[in-house]
Amino acid sequence: ARTAAVIPAAGRGVRLGPGAPKALRALGGTPMLIHAVRAMAASRHVSLVIVVAPPDGAGEVKSLLDAHALPERTDFLVVPGGQSRQESVRLGLDALPSDYDIVLVHDAARPLVPVDTVDAVIEAVREGAPAVVPALPLADTVKQVEPAAVPGDPEPVVATPERARLRAVQTPQGFDRATLVRAHTEVTGDVTDDAGMVEQLGLTVVAVPGHEEAFKVTRPLDLVLAEAVLARRRL
Ligand code: CTP
Ligand code: MG
Repeated sequence: ARTAAVIPAAGRGVRLGPGAPKALRALGGTPMLIHAVRAMAASRHVSLVIVVAPPDGAGEVKSLLDAHALPERTDFLVVPGGQSRQESVRLGLDALPSDYDIVLVHDAARPLVPVDTVDAVIEAVREGAPAVVPALPLADTVKQVEPAAVPGDPEPVVATPERARLRAVQTPQGFDRATLVRAHTEVTGDVTDDAGMVEQLGLTVVAVPGHEEAFKVTRPLDLVLAEAVLARRRL
């Protein structure tokens, strides 16, 4: 079974604030995207990484990857991304050579995922699950609300799902290739993760333990945390 990783990295990073596209922002002096690529290449099962670059940044991303050594066993491709994460993932899948039968989809914005988490996801796909997500229990209680018409106005609480049964899902999410391609062909409408599209096909998605360090860099405070995690690793 050959395994490839698609890394959507085409987002602007609006919530992180003004600056370069999020995937190109530095973390410990190295672009976030390079950390994410290395995190996938750290798995001995991953032999190809497909980076989905900002639409006008494919050349720059290609140069970056040429400048940062990957393990010998790992090839990479760079393709331009789209307007939504979903479209970017599909453009990455379109570039996937036919001899890969397991695909990981990993956010460039999760640069610090440990290799053990990557391997746990791959292992579960190898054992027959069509779709696998790394997931963690929640620290906060979650409430469903009726969103206010005006942001910031009080919002009526509708329900409180039982926290013990909820999970926050991370990436890399792992898929049987044919399943993910089918999901991206047949499922339309807004989704925030690839596994959700597989669920819409009526197939079973399984969760394996995620990792705290696989958190997504979304807002400025997440960058502070990511720098601290990296500094601790370098001790
Ligand atoms: N992504 C992508 N193409 C898009 C939008 C997002 O490849 N059109 C990628 C991002 O680069 C990121 C991942 O999807 O690695 C997760 O998205 P998110 O954290 O929302 O990143 P951004 O969309 O860049 O951030 P924001 O929503 O704050 O603008
Ligand atoms: Mg986004």
